[in-house]
Amino acid sequence: MVKKILVAGAGGFIGGHLVARLRERGDCEIRAVDIKPFDQWHQYFDDVESLCLDLRERPCCEKVVVGVDEIYNLAADMGGIGFIEGNKFACMVNVLINTNLLLTANEVGVERFFFSSSACVYRGDLQNSDQTNFALKESDAYPADPEDGYGWEKLFSERMCRHAMEDCGLITRVARFHNSYGSHGTWSGGREKAPAAICRKVAFASISGNHSIEIWGDGTQKRSFMYIDDNIEGMLRIMYSDISEPINLGSAEMVTINEMVSIAEDIAGIKLSRRYRADAPIGVAGRSSDNSMILERLNWEPSTSLYDGLAKTYEWIYDQVLGSVAKNSRIETAYGVSRLYAK
Ligand code: NAD
Ligand code: GDD
Repeated sequence: MVKKILVAGAGGFIGGHLVARLRERGDCEIRAVDIKPFDQWHQYFDDVESLCLDLRERPCCEKVVVGVDEIYNLAADMGGIGFIEGNKFACMVNVLINTNLLLTANEVGVERFFFSSSACVYRGDLQNSDQTNFALKESDAYPADPEDGYGWEKLFSERMCRHAMEDCGLITRVARFHNSYGSHGTWSGGREKAPAAICRKVAFASISGNHSIEIWGDGTQKRSFMYIDDNIEGMLRIMYSDISEPINLGSAEMVTINEMVSIAEDIAGIKLSRRYRADAPIGVAGRSSDNSMILERLNWEPSTSLYDGLAKTYEWIYDQVLGSVAKNSRIETAYGVSRLYAK
């Protein structure tokens, strides 16, 4: 029998790529849902059932879960460090989305449920500047000290998934995504994460001829970045695995932000002067994914190099920046005003 799959947050970056992948696979029916109007979805497909609804509302969840076999919950009011540090309440309200989806999934008898958790669940003390090893393993989430706001909601919702499975029999799968990047995602406006922001700034410098860019912090912060194709592949593998506890889904290739800027410069073929902003949001000093568990359980891990993934992402963002300049818009790249303004 053909499965019906609900993608919650389908207008977003990862949800849009998941719908694209499932559609290509062609062996399931898809229902795509997001709170955003259709013209703001990163990817919209005319041949996919698409709905614009607020999944914090229980009746909306009831409407979309009917007749569904599997659910991917990728819906959240979120963004990069510039968004989550200043919007802790909104991030915590995301708990309503996962809770109402779980309640409804249990009632309707959904087979499988995927929840997109985050590396932000990990203990803060393991990500400070006095650490030498930033590769976080799954057990490092406890004793709990996650990112305030966004991380607490993710940790709580992880546990709701576990208890829905133990108490109600719903098969739940939870992956802790580490910073994911690629085309068809947010690249301006304040919610963008570092890879998209750096690509945008480098592309804008290249197009405008102003060869100076602003970097948040001193550029020594370390992160690992996962290319979207690996993100989607990993999600699907985890969903259909027997892994019933939260598992890392991230790249183990850790770089400093300065190193990522150098890669973007190399891709663009330019050299820029760098202005560092100590007053911008910085987050933790270092964070990467320990992939021992995913290698052991799936014999697989995200493997696209940052250079290759960023080259594809840069190409797409360059076109977006060029398009907005052509549309007579101006892009401010300074912290606090990283928005598109009509001239
Ligand atoms: P995104 O912001 O691009 O997509 C999330 C989508 O959810 C948006 O389109 C948004 O409109 C939608 N949404 C928000 N509130 C909603 C509501 N009440 N009802 C229905 N839809 C709603 O983010 P993304 O990068 O695609 O992330 C997807 C999921 O993965 C999120 O849960 C996020 O927390 C998680 N995650 C992402 C990353 C990353 O690096 N991208 C890292 C860790 C975890
Ligand atoms: N966003 C952004 N924009 N970050 C910048 C910039 C810039 O222009 N310049 C430097 N950075 C630095 C930030 O200061 C931070 O230290 C680092 O790049 C990474 O920033 P983000 O990509 O915005 O977020 P993060 O890695 O701290 O946290 C993200 O990753 C989690 C999963 O690993 C967040 O997006 C979370 O929402 C996500 O769950």
